[in-house]
Amino acid sequence: MKIDIVSVFPEYFKALDVGLFGKAIERGLLDVSAHDLRDWTHDVHHSVDDTPVGGGAGMVMKPEVWAECLDDLLGLEPVEMADDGSETPDPPEADLSKPVLIFPNPSAPLFTQRDATELSRAGHLVFGCGRYEGYDARIPRYYRAQGVDVREYSIGDYVLNGGEVAVSVMLEAITRLMPGFMGNPDSIVEESYTGSNALLEHYQYTKPAVWRGMGVPDVLTSGDHGKVDRFRRDEAIAHTDRLRPDLIERLDCKALNKADRKTLMALGWEVSGPHPRKRAD
Ligand code: ADE
Repeated sequence: MKIDIVSVFPEYFKALDVGLFGKAIERGLLDVSAHDLRDWTHDVHHSVDDTPVGGGAGMVMKPEVWAECLDDLLGLEPVEMADDGSETPDPPEADLSKPVLIFPNPSAPLFTQRDATELSRAGHLVFGCGRYEGYDARIPRYYRAQGVDVREYSIGDYVLNGGEVAVSVMLEAITRLMPGFMGNPDSIVEESYTGSNALLEHYQYTKPAVWRGMGVPDVLTSGDHGKVDRFRRDEAIAHTDRLRPDLIERLDCKALNKADRKTLMALGWEVSGPHPRKRAD
């Protein structure tokens, strides 16, 4: 996978050289370049931002500099548009053999494991890190109109100083799902948020079986794999019920087995409809 990252702090991405991500670069699974947006400026101050049209606090990243940079990375020629901003063009069909342009943005839909899974199959990702009060809204609009698959994602309901941290988060979530990235691919299969029956994960323990007087659940040392699996599944359901009931509401009842239903019913969920619903009492 080819990955281009554009930022006014490209040195931030040196941190990607460590751990499994660094190894994937070494092995040639990832080809990562972090670019300095200021390399595409022409003025003495290398300015990338300007005051907001219509007034207001802060600065907005200029479209001209971004477009020169993105045209280069995407191999596109500049096009003069007849667009007064009054219509929202339909997003192009997702085609992961073409580059995907991704802008982190706190005012965008949440980035989820589903997005990470989809993007792990892409051949070329281009990330644009905004700073200040964000980037000119015509940038994603322009590239969508050129047929580019442009995504804007928030990584959570909080505001960061810029998109760099958000890009690191997305990159880690995406690349670890690529075939050949993880030493043990089984470790991704059981994780929280994976698959249509996403639940939080059960607790994990390692040795010693007793530590500072604290034991582990007996069933885990019983050697009975069927019982261990059921115990973990029930624990996952119970954690999700307690911490993220919104995930239970999204489960597909048809994909639940009899034991799952029993556990959910004991926790106060109705499982007769398409998705579980908490009983009113
Ligand atoms: N830029 C600033 N805050 C952000 C967030 N929460 N998600 C993505 N990009 C951001």
